[in-house]
Amino acid sequence: MRRALGRWPGVKRRLVYADPREYWTLRGGIDYFREQEGQEGRSMRADWVARRIARYRPTSILEVGCGYGKLIRAIRGQTDVPIVGVDFSPTQLEMARDYLEGVDGVNLALASGTRLPFADNSFDLIVTSAVILHNAPPIAEAIRREIVRVGRHFAAHNEDIDVTYNRYGYDTAAWYHDRGIPLAEVGPIPSAPYESQFCVAELWHR
Ligand SMILES: C[S@@+](CC[C@H](N)C(=O)[O-])C[C@H]1O[C@@H](n2cnc3c(N)ncnc32)[C@H](O)[C@@H]1O
Repeated sequence: MRRALGRWPGVKRRLVYADPREYWTLRGGIDYFREQEGQEGRSMRADWVARRIARYRPTSILEVGCGYGKLIRAIRGQTDVPIVGVDFSPTQLEMARDYLEGVDGVNLALASGTRLPFADNSFDLIVTSAVILHNAPPIAEAIRREIVRVGRHFAAHNEDIDVTYNRYGYDTAAWYHDRGIPLAEVGPIPSAPYESQFCVAELWHR
């Protein structure tokens, strides 16, 4: 059944993944954790993104859709600036509190990317990693706009482009380009299993 549905990502999306918040709260949690922690490639990818972000020398970082905190931990290995993680799934945040126990300078909060509970320009750099791609186009648009509002200097995105039952696949770099916001970099992530994109937008030009 699962394999058959794989041939129709649109149908599978409606059946299994109609509400991403519910998916990440009820189903995504522990399966995602095992998948991520069980594959060395996933850790290498998080480390690669963390190193890339650190090159911009941000003074504060917000991760939108932080999940159980894998990327936050990798970023903490590169820089000691304050980090805030938000996620709209209470179970993901609960896992993050465990996973990040003892990691200094990290605050976590329950929030949707469409309505970030922060003032304009609050964070030097905002990052998303495999988050926008899980949301339908109008929601994805609202998240990007919130990031542009709350970010001060940089928005870094690791978002895949390919479409699957739980991925809409967006060209985030093109979104910034269309709005006249320059990109400091854009390209694939080395050895990523999917059609990946990592881009960093220069928000002060917005
Ligand atoms: C694939 S996981 C990625 C987690 C983390 N960014 C990482 O790289 O390990 C996607 C996470 O984004 C969260 N998420 C998806 N859409 C969101 C939204 N609109 N607002 C807040 N969190 C969201 C989910 O709850 C889930 O924890």
